[in-house]
Amino acid sequence: MKTQVCIVGAGPAGLLLGHLLCAEGIECVVLERRPPDYVLGRIRAGVLEQTTVSLMERLGLDARLKQEGLVHDGFNLADGERLIRIDIAGLTGKHVVVYGQTELTRDLMEAREARGLEVIYEAADVTLHAIHSDAPFVTYSKNDVPQRIDCRIVAGCDGSHGPSRQAIPAAVATEYEREYPFGWLGILADVPPCNHELIYANHSRGFALASMRSERRSRYYIDVPLTERVEDWPDERIWDELAIRLGPEAAAHIIRGPSLEKSIAPLRSYVFAPMRHGSLLLCGDAAHIVPPTGAKGLNLAASDVHYAAEALTKFFKRGDGEAIAGYSSRALARVWKAERFSWSLTRLMHRFPEDGPFERAMQVAELDYISSSRAAQTSIAENYVGLPV
Ligand code: APR
Ligand code: PHB
Repeated sequence: MKTQVCIVGAGPAGLLLGHLLCAEGIECVVLERRPPDYVLGRIRAGVLEQTTVSLMERLGLDARLKQEGLVHDGFNLADGERLIRIDIAGLTGKHVVVYGQTELTRDLMEAREARGLEVIYEAADVTLHAIHSDAPFVTYSKNDVPQRIDCRIVAGCDGSHGPSRQAIPAAVATEYEREYPFGWLGILADVPPCNHELIYANHSRGFALASMRSERRSRYYIDVPLTERVEDWPDERIWDELAIRLGPEAAAHIIRGPSLEKSIAPLRSYVFAPMRHGSLLLCGDAAHIVPPTGAKGLNLAASDVHYAAEALTKFFKRGDGEAIAGYSSRALARVWKAERFSWSLTRLMHRFPEDGPFERAMQVAELDYISSSRAAQTSIAENYVGLPV
């Protein structure tokens, strides 16, 4: 088979890029290792920046998002008894939309036939070849039959464990990494949220987050040491812990219910640079990971895809090779700012085991400063709502 762009991975990054290229009349094929149901079974974050919403709007795939997405004008930082509201709308004139990544992926998946986007699911042994050349190709097998796709560009949208990043020689790349000494234990339940806006809490027992998917479905998290196992956390134990960490005001409104999903995800900051090598462009988790504090993961994937689609359109429509060459530095400039924000919000809102009284005093001072400074709140708000692309 021959195409212009071979996209590896049909998560949100790969599907968004596929749709944007189709809309520009650029030929592409998406290869995904898993079946569709598996992709939709992954529960991920659910706060969309305006940039991400705009991409869906541009594609005309925002009908359900508009109908079901919850517009949030603010969120809260809790520290013991204190609740600091960050008035995103008042401070930036923008808002975020609470809409699960799973739902956004479903919208992109369901539109693929109508838009003529070809996605090959259950593609095994996807391997990238000759990416340093102008004639790269990708091999895989489908139902045990070997296949080959010749293309001009490969877009690696295959997440943090996919083969794309590995195809870039170590000698030309730098990896930046920070691991955190805890994971987030998440619980999804069909109960109304305890608050109409998100609450990120820093409690002496650890971090907690009250989030939601809809007015009837809640998503909560607490941080736990990496040695913990989900089996040791029956639902009641999580609800008890949430009630303590989120503080008495929120606790009074927590409605408990059986978990629909429960899992522990480790926290990590990671950047792989450059995000382009030869004819290969990396987008989304394939190039970087952020800790979930601040909900930047999906939004960063969307902004990468925005830059990639723009570069590929210039390249295929006008023969502008510079656009491809400039992709990595454009994308990384925004990636690093989101990495910084996610890292600093993680630092501010969690109790690190190695921290002593000094580090805690720094957190208290920073939260005090934020609570009393419009400038500090504006800085948090503009990062939370998403920096410009
Ligand atoms: N061959 C083909 N596809 C692969 C391979 C492979 N060898 N390895 C991984 N994939 C697929 C995965 O099955 C997955 O569907 O690539 C896709 C990558 O999707 P995600 O992991 O969701 O990554 P991305 O699309 O970059 O999404 C951005 O935002 O909220 C964050 O981390 C969260 O996934 C989210 C991310
Ligand atoms: C979520 O709803 O899953 C969520 C929300 C905000 C975050 C992380 C996760 O920062």
